[in-house]
Amino acid sequence: MKQKVVSFLVSGRGSNFKAIAEKIIAGEINAELGILISSTKDAKALDIANGFKMESFFIDPASFASRKDHEKAMVNLLKKYNTDLIVTAGYMRVLTPFFVKEYRNKIMNIHPALLPSFPGTNAQKQAFDKGVKMTGCTTHFIDEGTDTGPIIMQAAVPVLENDTIESLSARILKEEHRIFPESVKLFCYDRLTIIGNKVLIKSLQ
Ligand code: GAR
Repeated sequence: MKQKVVSFLVSGRGSNFKAIAEKIIAGEINAELGILISSTKDAKALDIANGFKMESFFIDPASFASRKDHEKAMVNLLKKYNTDLIVTAGYMRVLTPFFVKEYRNKIMNIHPALLPSFPGTNAQKQAFDKGVKMTGCTTHFIDEGTDTGPIIMQAAVPVLENDTIESLSARILKEEHRIFPESVKLFCYDRLTIIGNKVLIKSLQ
């Protein structure tokens, strides 16, 4: 099996990127690190990529005439580096149908809620405010909708009575750092089959 090249789109802190990249560097995921592209100039993720001696780029959405032009610049770079899988790790922009078509079923996202509940921004706050007893996180492939694509893995996290949004988000993040690398690993070992809106998983054990 050919080693897959995994590239990242980020906008901020980069803790999910770090969790995945560390496993690739350690050889726990048999894949090659591609590039990291940030939509914000001072994303902490850019520093982390530097620390990993990884090629990283800030591509300023504001410097393009349209969203499509911005995405074209990203696609050109991702192709130049032979990207097989794009991981959106806290990438706070919605990808247009143009980008999704270029990399259909090859863009993986994490969302901090049990989809299809609480899509969009501030998912942890949405769950907290709604008073649900259970929330969590979801990995999924990106399609044309907002957080609607085929679901890969989910982890449930209880909402405790003394939780704050911060404490709940921290417990969800811990699960994100577990299921996101695992989902990337399954992709890199060709264990995921998408049938309609379902993802079938052939276990690694
Ligand atoms: C994560 O909690 C991720 O689930 C969320 O942003 C955070 C990024 O953290 N993503 C979304 O809300 C996407 N709709 P990180 O930069 O430390 O990985």
